Amino acid sequence: MDKKISIFEVGPRDGLQNIKNEIPINRKIELIDILTDTGLKKIECGSFVSAKWVPQMKGTNQIFQEITRKEGVKYTALTPNLQGFESALDAQVDEVAVFAAASETFSQKNVNCSIEESLERFQGIFKKAKQKKIPVRGYVSCVVECPYEGKVSPENVLRVASNLLDMGCYEVSLGDTIGQGTPKTIEDLLKVLCSELNQEKLAGHFHDTSDTAIKNVEVGLKHGVSTFDSAIGGLGGCPYAPGAKGNLNTHSLIRAFGINSFSENIDIDKIKFAEKYINKII
Ligand code: HMG
Ligand code: MG
Repeated sequence: MDKKISIFEVGPRDGLQNIKNEIPINRKIELIDILTDTGLKKIECGSFVSAKWVPQMKGTNQIFQEITRKEGVKYTALTPNLQGFESALDAQVDEVAVFAAASETFSQKNVNCSIEESLERFQGIFKKAKQKKIPVRGYVSCVVECPYEGKVSPENVLRVASNLLDMGCYEVSLGDTIGQGTPKTIEDLLKVLCSELNQEKLAGHFHDTSDTAIKNVEVGLKHGVSTFDSAIGGLGGCPYAPGAKGNLNTHSLIRAFGINSFSENIDIDKIKFAEKYINKII
């Protein structure tokens, strides 16, 4: 493998957003501080979304105020609209992510509007992010299968991913939201995407419902994708994606490829400690 793998740690956001019991904010802050110490360089700390829609993400603002930031680590958050982006700015977020879907029904269920309308909503974010020099990442959900519509075609994913890149995302993360992707379907998807898009601007976000996430990463690497989202403890799921299990487990990802395959200088004992900690707090 020529290029090193980069990890985008989504545990404090995707890992926790679907957990029903309220997790105290100070526990989340401690978790992020522990993750900061592991050597990971990107940590998605929360979402500036409606608390009525995702109650567990309430208090993201306080999290950003109280975490101990380390130079070289980027602390990021999801922003669904300009209101969320303004809150992210107030909280001095280093980077934001907008999220769209490749399936109409999922888009309606997750953000209460069509795919087209969701992209339209992001225009304001891109404009302001450019002024403020805040990098914007994009997610496309349901890149393989939708919990409501079934199979999703790679062409639909391509359309949304290229839109997000054209609008100004520096990278688009491909969300296998319900973890139904297999090496074959990810291969089919990446063949289409990588023939049109720069693979260096793509990332893999594999939920591990069917225990294929590591195999899917291998397929990604083969196509030149080198950034993968994972969550400490393998937690995760989306409240609007029934059936989704956890994300690719950060520890399993590191174990599968070996510590020297990563661009980060990872301390595996600290990863193990973070894993123990998150298991304890949930
Ligand atoms: P809406 O109800 O259509 O929005 O929700 P609205 O503009 O009509 O506003 C309704 C209320 O929400 C108002 O408050 C707004 O102020 C408030 P009220 O007057 O009723 O008191 N509101 C907000 N509050 C806080 N922050 C905001 C915000 N915007 C409006 N930014 C909305 C539209 C997008 C807000 C809603 O649908 C929402 O918050 N959805 C978020 C869903 C979500 O977070 N899903 C999980 C993340 S995506 C995911 O997990 C997939 C991923 O991991 C990749 C993968 O696995 O595929 C990324
Ligand atoms: Mg996810």
